[in-house]
Amino acid sequence: MTSWNAFYERTNERAPSLLLSCAIDHARHLRPLYAVDLGCGAGNEALQMIQAGWQVLAIDKEPEAIARTANKCSMDEARMLDTKVADFEYLAELPPSSLIHAGLALPFCHPRRFDHLWNLMCKALVPGGVFAGHFFGLRHGWASQGHMSFHSVENVQALAAGLETVLLRETESAMVIDSGTVNWHRIDVILRKA
Ligand SMILES: C[S@@+](CC[C@H](N)C(=O)[O-])C[C@H]1O[C@@H](n2cnc3c(N)ncnc32)[C@H](O)[C@@H]1O
Repeated sequence: MTSWNAFYERTNERAPSLLLSCAIDHARHLRPLYAVDLGCGAGNEALQMIQAGWQVLAIDKEPEAIARTANKCSMDEARMLDTKVADFEYLAELPPSSLIHAGLALPFCHPRRFDHLWNLMCKALVPGGVFAGHFFGLRHGWASQGHMSFHSVENVQALAAGLETVLLRETESAMVIDSGTVNWHRIDVILRKA
């Protein structure tokens, strides 16, 4: 049992991600139809991409997340799934990808290794390739956690320099989660490599 299991249980039946649907629409003309899901969790978005016709590499540090993602797939869908148990901080490379998704995942990369992860992602995107994901803002309720990464809109814009910003949306509201009420300050982005 990992500390993420309650989250995986809670999100197991979640509806398709609208952010990811939008990113898929922007990327569907690209080749290869190869995507990466960073921090795949219960596997909902990896499956969403597979069902949209993508071969997907699902990466998570938790074997439980990878097992849940694989178990979610039918036999045919499983052929479209590659998996890797790995820490973001120590990833050496990512395959050439037309789509990279990181849902509620990048904030869990250690700040000292964030640039390493971001550079890997930017390098892996093929020309025209699309990134979709979430950042946590500086006023997020967990912002005092030194092992997590938080970004202002300006920080995100700096990371996105050289990429086209398709969407950048900042939201902030009180969110009730397992551990109580948290100020949930999030920045959602869709970016496209030139
Ligand atoms: C909040 S969950 C999000 C899961 C899924 N993307 C979603 O939106 O439901 C974060 C996931 O990232 C994984 N994770 C956290 N820190 C990580 C790290 N440093 N390297 C790799 N995976 C990590 C966790 O195991 C977890 O499955």
